Amino acid sequence: MNQGLATRYLGLELAHPVIASASPLTATFDGMRRLEDAHAAAVVMASLFEEQIRAEDTRYATFTEYTAGCHPEAATYFPELPDYRYGVSGHIETLRRAAEALDIPVIASLNGVSDAGWLDYAVELEQAGAAALELNLYLLPTDLAASGREIEQRYLDIVRHVKAKVSIPVSVKLSPFFTAVGNIVTQLESIGADGVVLFNRFFRPDFDLETLGVKREVVLSTPADIHLPLTWIALLSRHLKFSLAAGTGVDSHVEIVKFLLAGADVVATASALLRHGPEHMTAIVDGLERWLSQNGFVSVAEIRGRLDGTHVDRAERFLRTQYLRTLSDYALDHALPTAHTH
Ligand SMILES: Cc1cc2nc3c(=O)[nH]c(=O)nc-3n(C[C@H](O)[C@H](O)[C@H](O)COP(=O)(O)O)c2cc1C
Repeated sequence: MNQGLATRYLGLELAHPVIASASPLTATFDGMRRLEDAHAAAVVMASLFEEQIRAEDTRYATFTEYTAGCHPEAATYFPELPDYRYGVSGHIETLRRAAEALDIPVIASLNGVSDAGWLDYAVELEQAGAAALELNLYLLPTDLAASGREIEQRYLDIVRHVKAKVSIPVSVKLSPFFTAVGNIVTQLESIGADGVVLFNRFFRPDFDLETLGVKREVVLSTPADIHLPLTWIALLSRHLKFSLAAGTGVDSHVEIVKFLLAGADVVATASALLRHGPEHMTAIVDGLERWLSQNGFVSVAEIRGRLDGTHVDRAERFLRTQYLRTLSDYALDHALPTAHTH
């Protein structure tokens, strides 16, 4: 592999900056091995869910729910997961096997946000050989009495608790649904997190008008989804010393290059691998290598952060004026009165 692609993430030395994000593909040993064979720089194993921990012997339904009515192209990649070992012990055993057998780092993932007891499982994931731990934290704030500050405090407490328990690097995978994304990210850095992943992407429930029920289909992302993470990576990358992973909306090397230009250390992808199969990882990495050489770059370091927010004069104004300009262009094109005429 081209040495110029070498990347450091969470203190780990990676061959290049493209990693497999947590998904049903990374829930099993075979899935993780296929991703290594396809040249993933690292894999993030599917999360160990708080619910799995609370009901150790209950066959946790997440993965079979994913299977129901999912994106047809992806159907073959949501198999019954016959080799997924439900329950905590199976999950940890799969991690142990993968960490021992694979040459690439296997990053474990822990999901939940309720009271902290289950967080002790971070230690089990570390002991099973995880190279790092990703905290997939998500609390849908349905408690209308809980303020944003209280919810953020809960996130920070969880990260502090885990950091005190493990010695492997800990990153935090966030949703974009914070009032002040930059502030929570810098708070996470200041309490000792080793990195953040911007952003997670969740189920998008919908209604079925035939059954009058709620649909829980998986809707895979497309490149139209990269703008929010791209904006935040670009605005934050120069301000952060810890690791920054971008995620959401990757389909090919094109989105990888964009996230690197914004300043991401690594880019994580799930939907593209589910849609095209794990072997698509090879096409993405080859595409990145080709793009760099065709454009006269010998390393990813040369492009990393080249278009970050500091290169845009007064980022906030840039975002606003672009929007206004677009509105007035649209108005001119459609012979509408522009904002300036009022
Ligand atoms: C079917 C499916 C299962 C997922 N499972 C997990 C998971 O266990 N843990 C996690 O942190 N993220 C999970 N994700 C989120 C992905 O890792 C990723 O962050 C998100 O899909 C955005 O990246 P993408 O646009 O490349 O798909 C899952 C995504 C999908 C589509």
